[in-house]
Amino acid sequence: MSGPNTNYDPVQVTPLNADEVERMVAEALAAIQAAGDTAALKAARLDHAGERSPLALANREIGALPPQARKEAGQRVGQARGQVNKAIAAREVELKAVELEQRLASETVDMTVPVDVHPVGALHPVTALMDMMVDVFVSMGWELAEGPELETEWFNFDALNLHPDHPARALADTLWIDPVEDGKLLRTSTSPVQVHTMLERREPPIYIVSPGKVYRADEYDATHLPVFHQIEGLCVDKGITMAHLRGTLDHFARAMFGDVRTRMRPHYFPFTEPSAEVDLECFVCHGESVGNPDRPCRTCKSEGWIEWGGCGVVNPRVLRAAGIDPEVYSGFAFGMGVDRTVMFRNSATDLRDFVEGDIRFSRSLLGGAR
Ligand code: DAH
Repeated sequence: MSGPNTNYDPVQVTPLNADEVERMVAEALAAIQAAGDTAALKAARLDHAGERSPLALANREIGALPPQARKEAGQRVGQARGQVNKAIAAREVELKAVELEQRLASETVDMTVPVDVHPVGALHPVTALMDMMVDVFVSMGWELAEGPELETEWFNFDALNLHPDHPARALADTLWIDPVEDGKLLRTSTSPVQVHTMLERREPPIYIVSPGKVYRADEYDATHLPVFHQIEGLCVDKGITMAHLRGTLDHFARAMFGDVRTRMRPHYFPFTEPSAEVDLECFVCHGESVGNPDRPCRTCKSEGWIEWGGCGVVNPRVLRAAGIDPEVYSGFAFGMGVDRTVMFRNSATDLRDFVEGDIRFSRSLLGGAR
């Protein structure tokens, strides 16, 4: 019968010898230190502190040692494992801090960067231009006047000297409101505002401008819209003549287009007498393109002049219909198409762009004026 193997030399059990354990620890510590992120650290933990790690395997060998050797080997391996676990925990704290730091940096929101979360729209070029036009007159002491878009036949036609049998009345492609017998319609021009204003004010002097929507049963195409805009002007005072009209339109033209002249061509409107069409000297070529094929002008189509609107001395019949004595007062009136003006002023070629609601159109004209 053999006694206990007192001669057993623990050095013989390789994984448990001090140098070997030290080497395992050094290897584990190096791997832990080398782990650059928590994923790498997880792998290092599995390799060096997991169930199949060299130290865990060494731990299992302890049972095979003679009892007197177990204590020392147990202490050595236990300490080694403790050291490795501590290093893992410390590295984990470090790496988590670094990773948190990186995440915060990558998710940083610069609160000072201007953002268009709710983009502010631009004023429609027609609205912006109407505002500019009104400003020209308001700065001369004129007032802004408004009138209804749903009109009566009397304001839209009769009071403006277009009697039922008047040929000009047939010219207007009027949008009537059902039933037609009621004589209600969508105004075909801003001219009825003249009559509303004169009836409301009763006594001149009257100096008003009135921009707004007008309606005609026109085709919807590049040069026609069934809804478009005009600006109306009316002045009624003592001693007003065509010369005042001329001076006012010249000032208006210069305020809008710079150094340009206007010219008048005789025309017919039932509500003015005499009447004229007013043309604007081309503000781009100033007439230089006329008869000069080398220098064509898109704005005036090389005509030198641009048709701008209608005007004239207020017909005494209109004054009378509005309760103003034409023996005492006289006046002038004018009306321009605003959409047309935007077209030639900003080289817009298709009126349909005006109503299709693409904000890029509004932004591109008038510098996105707000
Ligand atoms: N009402 C005219 C139109 O729609 C424009 C116009 C012409 C207005 C002469 C006026 C004027 O006040 O005097 O074509």
